Amino acid sequence: MTQPPIRVVGVAGAGQMGSGIAQVVAMAGYRTLLFDVSAAQLARAREGVAASLAKLVEKGKATAEGREQALARLDGVTDLAALHGADLVIEAAPEDLELKTGLWRALDPHCPHHTLFASNTSSLPIARMAAVTGRPDRVLGLHFFNPVPLMPLVEVVRTVATGEAAFARALAFARSLGKEVVAARDTPGFVVNRLLVPYLLDAVRAREAGLASTADLDAGMKLGAGHPMGPLALLDLIGLDTVVQVAEAMFTEFREPRFAPPPLLTRLVALGHLGRKSGRGFYDYAGAAPVPAELGL
Ligand code: 3HC
Repeated sequence: MTQPPIRVVGVAGAGQMGSGIAQVVAMAGYRTLLFDVSAAQLARAREGVAASLAKLVEKGKATAEGREQALARLDGVTDLAALHGADLVIEAAPEDLELKTGLWRALDPHCPHHTLFASNTSSLPIARMAAVTGRPDRVLGLHFFNPVPLMPLVEVVRTVATGEAAFARALAFARSLGKEVVAARDTPGFVVNRLLVPYLLDAVRAREAGLASTADLDAGMKLGAGHPMGPLALLDLIGLDTVVQVAEAMFTEFREPRFAPPPLLTRLVALGHLGRKSGRGFYDYAGAAPVPAELGL
């Protein structure tokens, strides 16, 4: 059966990832509805999108007209039912399976048969989300990377139940955003996080063990391994709370110590030292340039 083209896209969750996803979707010409329960969060997301678009214009990666058009295509909504007209809904709620399944269960009756449901989860079972809907063949993963407007990859993830047609529509949609795609199976961490997360956790363990200073650990991997940023700076960019949630989910499934979040990481999260978004993590962002934070080691 031919499916209607994707014109309207709902994005559920206006955090760091959700707002970035909404931005690239709106930039690609789709009418975009960004849902969040908090109006204040929606306002912050819009400010963030406007600032990011301004930066892209400044760098010559977008035009001023493109910026205005993208902002005009993007609307915030606080009622989940407002996503009823979406041809695709991308969920970017925090990495909490109860929260995500609750959201899909609530949304399912509002959306027409053809609507695709895609989760931006990095590690939780998409099959568990598909199972709470009446459309498991149209549920899959679209996993974006942070910062979404700059990172070229989307992992397109299929479960055992995802239909060929839905998977093909999702691949075409991700490419229409100007992204490269990698096809992945519904396993914890997919391709990128399966390799990246143990590396990031090892960097924390190395720091905890006093192997080197924060600055030297990061400089080592930047200058010696050609990474665009060191692991501790990257942890701060992703958000330490997100990395702990992803690591816990992977540890729960694989039961392998290499996925277990190290004590230093869980303690920083407990103190609200979440990285860039909270102003402090492995680095302190209060000044003009980040400086390594005191970790009490
Ligand atoms: N929108 C627009 N511009 C942005 C931006 C955004 N969201 N975020 C940063 N920028 C801007 C910066 O402000 C900077 O502008 P400036 O030059 O005027 O200061 C510009 O982009 C370039 O930044 P930098 O000069 O600091 O660095 P680069 O040009 O080398 O690239 C980077 C920045 C793309 C972030 C690069 O450092 C990089 O690739 N880092 C690794 C990121 C990564 O690994 N992400 C994946 C994380 S894992 C993940 O997300 C999965 C999840 O499930 C956990």
